[in-house]
Amino acid sequence: MSSTSEPSFQKILTGRHAIHDFDPTVKIDRQELTQMITEATLAPSALNVQPWRIVVIDSPAMKAKIKPLMPNDVHQNETASALIVFFADLQAADNAQFIFDQTKAAGLLPAGVDERYVTMIQTIYQQMSAADLRNSFTLDTALPAMQFMLVARAHGFETGPMTGFDHEKIGSVLGMAPERYVPIIMLAVGKAASAPTESVRLPVTKILSFR
Ligand SMILES: Cc1cc2nc3c(=O)[nH]c(=O)nc-3n(C[C@H](O)[C@H](O)[C@H](O)COP(=O)(O)O)c2cc1C
Repeated sequence: MSSTSEPSFQKILTGRHAIHDFDPTVKIDRQELTQMITEATLAPSALNVQPWRIVVIDSPAMKAKIKPLMPNDVHQNETASALIVFFADLQAADNAQFIFDQTKAAGLLPAGVDERYVTMIQTIYQQMSAADLRNSFTLDTALPAMQFMLVARAHGFETGPMTGFDHEKIGSVLGMAPERYVPIIMLAVGKAASAPTESVRLPVTKILSFR
């Protein structure tokens, strides 16, 4: 994409709408999907623990398998180029050492930070209640999902966010152990086949206060 043809951030932002109807003939190659996910996961997370685990469903066989789990959104299943499920990994803190080593290898370790940092992160998550851990990782995982919706538009695609799927069953169908991976949100991605339904937002005066 040349810099002159890149849509402005304003256009990407204001032109995003939840899409329900995609062009079923459009395929997005896995390399581009991987690139979009790489960009979306530049999102921040608490303690940089990056608890998101992402499954892209782009095969007709797997789309057909999960169709019964999303009865209200069958059309997105049938027409989107891919469906992307963002899970939160409740054992994400196990990666603290890996992330620490990566940071060190990149020469990005702040002065005074050493291996004790890994233990500190693991202790923080071990001491959290199950509910707090889930909330924290849910919040983290929502961030790359939102970011993906904008990244996709920068790549010329549209998305539709969905939580109306069977959260109990989606993990086992996708081979993601349900006791470990919590499904947070599914995104349909592809080329829009019809104009989106536009939506309104509450007036900013209703939701904003300054102190
Ligand atoms: C967390 C979340 C869950 C959603 N779940 C569904 C869903 O299951 N099915 C659906 O058709 N739309 C779903 N939507 C789309 C919303 O209805 C839509 O984003 C909202 O009406 C605002 O419209 P806009 O995204 O076009 O601005 C969901 C959106 C979000 C953020």
